[in-house]
Amino acid sequence: MKIPSSEALAQFEKERTTNQGKATDSWSEQATVEERVFLLRQEADPEKPILLLREKHVSWLMHCLHVLPRGFKAFDAVQGWLAFWIVHSLDLLGATVPSETASQVVQHIKRFEDADGGYGGGPGQCSHLACTFSAFMALCALGTDEALQSINRDGLRNFILQMKQEDGSFRVSDGGETDVRAMYCALGVAGLAGFLDEDIGTALRKDCGKYLSGLQAFDGGIGGEPGGEAHGGNTFCGVACAVIIGDKEALDADKVLKWAVMRQMHYEGGFQGRTNKLVDSCYSYWVGALFPLVASVNGSKKTAELFDAEALQRYVLECCQLSNGGLRDKPGVPRDLMHTCYALSGLSVAQHFGKAKSNGVNGVRKTNPVYNLCEDKFEKAWLFFREV
Ligand code: FPP
Ligand code: ZN
Repeated sequence: MKIPSSEALAQFEKERTTNQGKATDSWSEQATVEERVFLLRQEADPEKPILLLREKHVSWLMHCLHVLPRGFKAFDAVQGWLAFWIVHSLDLLGATVPSETASQVVQHIKRFEDADGGYGGGPGQCSHLACTFSAFMALCALGTDEALQSINRDGLRNFILQMKQEDGSFRVSDGGETDVRAMYCALGVAGLAGFLDEDIGTALRKDCGKYLSGLQAFDGGIGGEPGGEAHGGNTFCGVACAVIIGDKEALDADKVLKWAVMRQMHYEGGFQGRTNKLVDSCYSYWVGALFPLVASVNGSKKTAELFDAEALQRYVLECCQLSNGGLRDKPGVPRDLMHTCYALSGLSVAQHFGKAKSNGVNGVRKTNPVYNLCEDKFEKAWLFFREV
């Protein structure tokens, strides 16, 4: 081995020490988050248990179902998502949408249907796979007979098939982009609605595994498109796709697991979505659900032991709840419906697939990790689409 000269060592030491204290942007952003979490934990009364503010969340969500806060105007093109985030959050919390309101939601979503069989983001908008997925899942999460009967299965089947591409991928819309999100939205609807068991199942499944294989990055996570950086949301979509089509070979599940383990933040307890990025409560679900999903791909029953579910629960309950209802991404940012839904979905994963104790008071209902519907709603929809 070549021994470095004393000049080289001195130069190395100079560079090392002068670099110390020079914070990068990502370093100082991380330090700010840790400080906010530290202050929150310091303020908390150690004698008092950390509670789920169930009534506050239910009351804010019910309010949003009728009157959206002003800041949500920009969400005009994702109305199906708003419905899903609200209805599924309420379901996780054990609250039922009153039947008259449920009926109004169904009638409103009906107006998102486009002539090609898919759903747009609101009345009069063009079909898009993400809008189709969200409208469909919002109706399944409502779970009333009226909601399920309002779904036009033939139209949906046609639209999803139209979005299928030669290379196995799916396009989000006519002329839109292809990515793993589009594949998850297509296969999620197709899987639950029963299309994969029909004749067109072969066409829909064609080369999905091949496309997914090309998305796994060197570090084990999955990018949105070939060559893309691994990201929690896309990794969820990719692994969920492999589970839906029952392809155990498409991805290296052990590498996914190692990547997922590395996403839990040692101080905050929640997950980040990418290497060197910040904790965010929505990854409680996107990354948290990877543990039960990988278990169903590689048959391992031990994945629940590979993340600290108590720490995840503590992050969600202690750092993300607002005292007047709703949950946020991280301390210092406002609440929103998306983070409320996925923080609660992640809490469900921590309690039902991980080892987080729900102590009765903090309990949320069990969600299906592939489709993110509470178990009873998932089973009702699954049976409904197989009986029609
Ligand atoms: C932020 O990326 C993006 C998200 C928090 C959403 C990711 C989720 C998906 C891609 C899954 C979508 C699922 C469906 C069903 C359509 P960022 O780069 O702003 O955040 P970062 O700093 O945490 O990486
Ligand atoms: Zn987020």
